[in-house]
Amino acid sequence: MFPYTLLVVILFAAQVYANYTVSFQSLSPGSPITSVVSGLTTHKLSKGLCKEGFSGARYCILYSYTFDARGISILALEEKHEYLWQRLALWASNPYLAHMPSSAMSRPSFAEVDVLGKGKGLAALRVIFPGEIVLAERPLILIDAQLKSEYSPQDIISLRRELSASLPQESHEYFMQLSGWHEHADPVDSRFDSNSFNINLGGEDTFHGLFPAVARLNHDCRPNLEYNWSEDTATMTLHAARRIEKDEELTISYVRGDFSSHQRQSRLKSTWGFDCACSLCSLPSYLQEESDNRLVILNDSLRMLDSNRLLPADKPAIAERLVHLVEMERLYTLLPESYAYAARAYAEIEDKHTALKYTTLAIEHGLRILGAEWKSWRELVELEEKLLKPNGRT
Ligand SMILES: *[C@@H]1O[C@H](CO)[C@@H](O)[C@H](O)[C@H]1NC(C)=O
Ligand SMILES: *[C@@H]1O[C@H](CO)[C@@H](O)[C@H](O)[C@H]1NC(C)=O
Ligand SMILES: *[C@@H]1O[C@H](CO)[C@@H](O)[C@H](O)[C@H]1NC(C)=O
Repeated sequence: MFPYTLLVVILFAAQVYANYTVSFQSLSPGSPITSVVSGLTTHKLSKGLCKEGFSGARYCILYSYTFDARGISILALEEKHEYLWQRLALWASNPYLAHMPSSAMSRPSFAEVDVLGKGKGLAALRVIFPGEIVLAERPLILIDAQLKSEYSPQDIISLRRELSASLPQESHEYFMQLSGWHEHADPVDSRFDSNSFNINLGGEDTFHGLFPAVARLNHDCRPNLEYNWSEDTATMTLHAARRIEKDEELTISYVRGDFSSHQRQSRLKSTWGFDCACSLCSLPSYLQEESDNRLVILNDSLRMLDSNRLLPADKPAIAERLVHLVEMERLYTLLPESYAYAARAYAEIEDKHTALKYTTLAIEHGLRILGAEWKSWRELVELEEKLLKPNGRT
């Protein structure tokens, strides 16, 4: 993920992905406890060891050498041990391949490449269509975010080192080849910090999750991939936010799309240590200023449409403006909801023809880009049905 790495990569992400089982089958499993998950398959999971922490709070490391054929290691406070152990047993009994579309497995759509000025990255091997799932994977490492409130930064480094050492050899090597920023920082620590996502596992608690192939994706402020975390299956799914051309680099955004250029650049520098050189940051400053201005108006439009203070007659123009700004700013994930605002606004003034146009656009884009869990989907289908009724009123 870090752009300046010059490290030699032995395992190509595409191989890790397409040949998951092949690449990691020769693992030497050390001495994990082999346990039988009730009524399910046998898996080598280790309930791990719970220890007295440096400051007194007890922590545990749970691991499996066989999970998704490359292992998983989890570091958490002791109070979460039983819960995590149960989750891990559940995930392990449910092969991750079950969450992958078979077409993506038989025909990977990307490969690892050298990207000028950014070190390693992933690039499309063929045209990828909007909404296509490009990659889905489960974490290699999970760390309880609450540890930060119990231990000093120095203790955390030691804990993370202990955790990474509990990974199978090949996975540990792969992890160490990921990039981390700051030459002087602890190598294990910086790799976690540069490559992890904040996720929930079904409860309130936040965890930092590291996903090995996802960690190879570089940043773009206007990315072509969106990611989607599922707590139920513990899977991070990446899908195309727009059409991606063959050989185009695959990217995700490390920061919010509606950040101003200053916010974006300072966050990327402070968290990942690089000067933003994405498609947007590389524009001349007057164009970046224009983009910032559009984002301010975009934010305002959203705020106005969400408030109940607009007259129905004023809503369509504001919704149209929102759609237009979102398109200009290439913020594709906001597009479905923007179309939905326009659909509702036109329905309210009983312009059925235009309302129907936007309802259809919203549903089509929403399902492709946001999936079946998109919250506005059902509502829009109902609206569409109402609009289609011969003398239906909205
Ligand atoms: C998967 O493994 C096979 C056999 O080792 C190899 O020929 C093939 O190129 C690999 N596929 C990818 C996508 O790396
Ligand atoms: C838009 O709103 C978001 C969320 O409130 C905020 O973080 C961001 O700074 C705003 N963008 C601009 C350009 O003002
Ligand atoms: C996001 O994840 C959820 C839960 O797994 C899934 O139902 C949905 O289809 C996903 N969305 C996309 C666009 O992949």
